Amino acid sequence: MKFDFDERISRRNTNSQKWDTAHGKDDVVPMWVADMDFKAADPVIRAMEHKLAHGVFGYAYIPDAYYEAEMNWWEKRHHCPIEKDWIVFTPGVIPALAVVIQAFTSPGDKVLIQAPVYNAFYGVISANEREIVENELVSQDGIYGIDFEDFEKKAEDDRVKLFILCNPHNPVGRVWSKEELERLAEICRKHNVLVIADEIHRDLVFGGSTFIPFAAVDAMNSITCTSPSKTFNIAGLKTANIVTANSELKDKIKHALHVNGLHDPNNFGVEALIAAYNEGEEWLDQLLVYLESNRDYFLAFVEEKLPRLKVSAPEATYLMWVDCRSLGINSEELGRRLYEEAGLRINEGNMYGNAGDGFIRVNIGCTREVLTEGLERLEKALGQLN
Ligand SMILES: Cc1ncc(COP(=O)(O)O)c(C=O)c1O
Repeated sequence: MKFDFDERISRRNTNSQKWDTAHGKDDVVPMWVADMDFKAADPVIRAMEHKLAHGVFGYAYIPDAYYEAEMNWWEKRHHCPIEKDWIVFTPGVIPALAVVIQAFTSPGDKVLIQAPVYNAFYGVISANEREIVENELVSQDGIYGIDFEDFEKKAEDDRVKLFILCNPHNPVGRVWSKEELERLAEICRKHNVLVIADEIHRDLVFGGSTFIPFAAVDAMNSITCTSPSKTFNIAGLKTANIVTANSELKDKIKHALHVNGLHDPNNFGVEALIAAYNEGEEWLDQLLVYLESNRDYFLAFVEEKLPRLKVSAPEATYLMWVDCRSLGINSEELGRRLYEEAGLRINEGNMYGNAGDGFIRVNIGCTREVLTEGLERLEKALGQLN
């Protein structure tokens, strides 16, 4: 079956964070919040319809079919078998990070992250009164890598108890290699730093790159967060998993989830995960082709029309990380100009730490029509500076 990712579906007036929070401006092109404008895969919609038609929405539990779907997906898509016992449901990856921070660190402890990185990492660490320690990624000709010397220096600090790995990395789009993951794992083991791997973007990987789950590198000193939310565009269903082979870690996580009252799943989320992982592969494979062509279109447009901006091809995710530093404008001013002068909403790079200042993050999980409109607005606002 051929899926139509060009179908333009209005998301206005649907309580969409991305489309409905433009504060009175109704012609904004929103290329910010990380969800996509596409309809979910048919099997997911059918599963929702089936549940809806039943009409009873009482408390749900997690059936065996849910665990099997998650396990099979790990094996068939990522060649990393896991066991049912390793999986714990959680209503989202951010709640999972909060729970892990609470379970394995105390107020005043430090948590290591690799900046620039997903803004909610900063929020959840500080909200839990832990200290943020940044290992800044290093960019060479626009390709980001890890400064391992600095990483180890930071990991040596006794107060650093946890490292949140983002793989694939939001916003820089890297898929970390086996060698990179092994070096990180070794340093963390050596200095007793527990790894929590946020692998929410694991399925959105483009040709030429291979995603390796951190559990395949170090299953015992790690906790992994997964979700079908980004992959299948079902983030609003609040369904994710925490996976660890280490039963001691798992028991502590279950306790922390219980303390926070976070154990019950959403009826629709359970059905959606099962349908997506069991029957959604064909849709996903076509989605990846569409996103990759959006990515290439974006790169070609910027190269031709906005040559002072630097952007390299992300290996994964539908997020473009654009270096605008040559324009000499900070991220906030960039965001303001794009929004007010061109009606384009992006994420300002400094949301992802100081290392992101002068950058913007642009979400290309949209139809080609919206992408083209967004790029024209980008050119309108920044073109005269180029
Ligand atoms: C790296 C990363 N982790 C987690 C999330 C959000 O996860 P959830 O909606 O499951 O809390 C996002 C959303 O953009 C993300 O990019």
